Amino acid sequence: MGSINLFWQLPGELLELWHEHRTSIIYSAIVFLTVARLWLHYRYPREKASLSSTPGSPDLYAKKWSIGIDREKDLTVDVPLLNGVIGKNIAAKTPKSIRKASPKRVVGKKSARASKELDKPFEAGEQRVAPLLFFSSLGGTTQAAAEAFVSNINSWRKHLSADEADNFVEAKCHDLSYIEYDDFFISAPKDQNLAYLYLFLLPTYNIDTTLDTFLEHLQETHNDFRIDTAPLSSILGYSVFGFGDKQDWPTEEEGFCSQAREVDKWMAKITGRKRAFPLGMGDVRTDSKERLEEWTEGIKEAMSDIMSGKGLGEGVAGSGDAVESDEEDADAEENTKTKLDDVEDLGSSYRNGTGAESGPLAIDFTTYSKSTKTVEPPVLKEMVPTSSPTYTALTKQGYTIVGSHSGVKICRWTKSALRGRGSCYKYSFYGIQSHLCMETTPSLSCSNKCVFCWRHGTNPVGTTWRWKVDPPEEIFEGVKAGHYKKIKMMKGVPGVRAERFQEAMRIKHCALSLVGEPIFYPHINEFTAMLHKERISSFLVCNAQHPDQLAALGHVTQLYVSIDASNKESLRKIDRPLHRDFWERFQRCLDILREKRFMQRTVFRLTLVKGFNIDDEVEGYADLVAQGLPCFVEVKGVTFCGTSTSSSAGLSMSNVPFYSEISEFVIALNASLEKRGLGYGIAAEHAHSCCVLLASNRFKIDGKWHTRIDYEKFFECLESGEEFGPDDYIGDETPEWALWGNGGFDPRDERVDRKGRPKVIIGDGTPQKNLIEI
Ligand SMILES: *[C@@H]1O[C@H](CO)[C@@H](O)[C@H](O)[C@H]1NC(C)=O
Ligand SMILES: *[C@@H]1O[C@H](CO)[C@@H](O)[C@H](O)[C@H]1NC(C)=O
Repeated sequence: MGSINLFWQLPGELLELWHEHRTSIIYSAIVFLTVARLWLHYRYPREKASLSSTPGSPDLYAKKWSIGIDREKDLTVDVPLLNGVIGKNIAAKTPKSIRKASPKRVVGKKSARASKELDKPFEAGEQRVAPLLFFSSLGGTTQAAAEAFVSNINSWRKHLSADEADNFVEAKCHDLSYIEYDDFFISAPKDQNLAYLYLFLLPTYNIDTTLDTFLEHLQETHNDFRIDTAPLSSILGYSVFGFGDKQDWPTEEEGFCSQAREVDKWMAKITGRKRAFPLGMGDVRTDSKERLEEWTEGIKEAMSDIMSGKGLGEGVAGSGDAVESDEEDADAEENTKTKLDDVEDLGSSYRNGTGAESGPLAIDFTTYSKSTKTVEPPVLKEMVPTSSPTYTALTKQGYTIVGSHSGVKICRWTKSALRGRGSCYKYSFYGIQSHLCMETTPSLSCSNKCVFCWRHGTNPVGTTWRWKVDPPEEIFEGVKAGHYKKIKMMKGVPGVRAERFQEAMRIKHCALSLVGEPIFYPHINEFTAMLHKERISSFLVCNAQHPDQLAALGHVTQLYVSIDASNKESLRKIDRPLHRDFWERFQRCLDILREKRFMQRTVFRLTLVKGFNIDDEVEGYADLVAQGLPCFVEVKGVTFCGTSTSSSAGLSMSNVPFYSEISEFVIALNASLEKRGLGYGIAAEHAHSCCVLLASNRFKIDGKWHTRIDYEKFFECLESGEEFGPDDYIGDETPEWALWGNGGFDPRDERVDRKGRPKVIIGDGTPQKNLIEI
């Protein structure tokens, strides 16, 4: 069409000539173009591969050219937008990388695939690990740190066995001001025998430095290879450590370690998320030395893992949690986005997916079952045999099943805390940091089928223990291993902080709740004793259906009883208990709690479900409080998981109370308790989890609430062997921000919404639906 328009304006003879020869001209043109295309195809296979699938957005190219023209003086411009020639232009722009590129190097691939292929474990003997440390230094401090780091790694290498040491070459450092970026940051240096680990030590400046140029380069590389997305995915991994100054930039929002964070983010993109260890950050005025040591240890571990063929460890590539995904995933890169919504989902999809290796979560607990199988009489069945649908369902939900009746799972708050975001209400109320907390249960079975239980229908139920019993030691070791394994899988997740990651490798608290009924387990006291021996605190939640076990329970740090309704009919409707005498059992449990109130730190846990147990029940709940006299009453709105099981149980979003409704309820309950002269008050709140804490005046000292726990004191009391009670391990004053009326969000943490964007603090009383499972 265009050609016809053009020919209209040509003189007559030319037009005739054209008519005479047009067939041959067109044929020669076609032949010429075909030959040219083929030549380009073989000459520049990489660009062709990517560009042939390009929808050819002019905007994209325009952007690309303009960036290129700015930075590359030798660039030939004004090249027509033809497939092959675009390839040529990129070649002109990045001469070294292209010319050096061996045709075999896999770059022109989507990162998802590329990283899978390139993720093949490092094979000792074939290649050696080459750690490269890049640094940037103005005053020389970072340079000194970089040199110290390199000599540290190299002396560590000297102390390894000859075999191990042979697996990697000496670490080298490179000043980012002197190297050619193209030599390292468009594709890795080409040495068939080496596999690279990129490490970075970066200070933060508020003036323009090499670091800005470097960041620009990373950004540009990523944008140039938009279709390839991960040109550096052939390296083994990377990790970044930043030095910042908290005096001038107290928080990350204000710019603390901003450049290190940027480099970490861009490296994740161009390597296809090969973060070998979380981003480390240190304040030059206070803790940078410690933080750097911590990070260095982490790097050594990562190197050991790589050398022993474990790759970056489990769950690293693509382990971003969609719920909490940050910019890295939320970027326009839909094509690289993994379909895995949750770290825990990795297991199930890998297991029967492509899995040559069965993949990250294939946790082999057969050893546990084996060892006990031989001991136990054959008549007793396992509660959750590996072959059962229950096992599959629980595993799919992210549980690690330990032995035949225990489970462990890391909750979203643990992940949140690892990423420097908020902890759950247990931090506001009791000082428990979520990344130090393990959630587990020694009994996956329960005697209720509560309507709001999100594992509803997947956990076994029963009124008596009729299964094979696993020994407590086995469970204890198994759940710890399972927990640590899951923490380790968070290593490469965007935003995980090296400092918190390292801290998380030492469990300090254990929540015995999750699914099932922990005191159902016959050796529960031995189990909690093991926790305490390792100075792990214990929060135990029970359902008020096992009075005998409750009476026999030894010391725990905090003892919860779920109070799901205020009267018999309501309780039947909501808990759907299996015991016929459920109400009597419930009553007996309250009486036991009352007797134990000076020995155990007792808590009533009220889970409010709209349309089930809120309306007109305030007085009933106040009566129950009068009966059990708990130290605390936690009131929490139900969380909705939107599964078919919860809706078949008659639950929907309309059953989830607004925070304002929870608040109203709590105020009414408080008034009702006051009327009875029981001595309680509203102590703290955590609006984010829709949770409010009422406390007995025993925990109000000099007019101030002291809901926090002195954990060390608790262990000391236990070890002393003498009688003690909750008053003996009252901890610090409840922080101001956690008090009733202040929302309960730790101001030191970054507040984000479910998409990971910074979030404004909820004002008082703003209606808020809470969908978060804890
Ligand atoms: C994987 O397993 C799930 C259920 O466990 C099944 O629905 C799905 O079809 C399986 N996928 C493949 C690829 O076998
Ligand atoms: C809760 O009750 C106590 C007395 O028991 C009272 O002093 C306090 O003001 C009440 N709190 C609220 C928020 O109503």
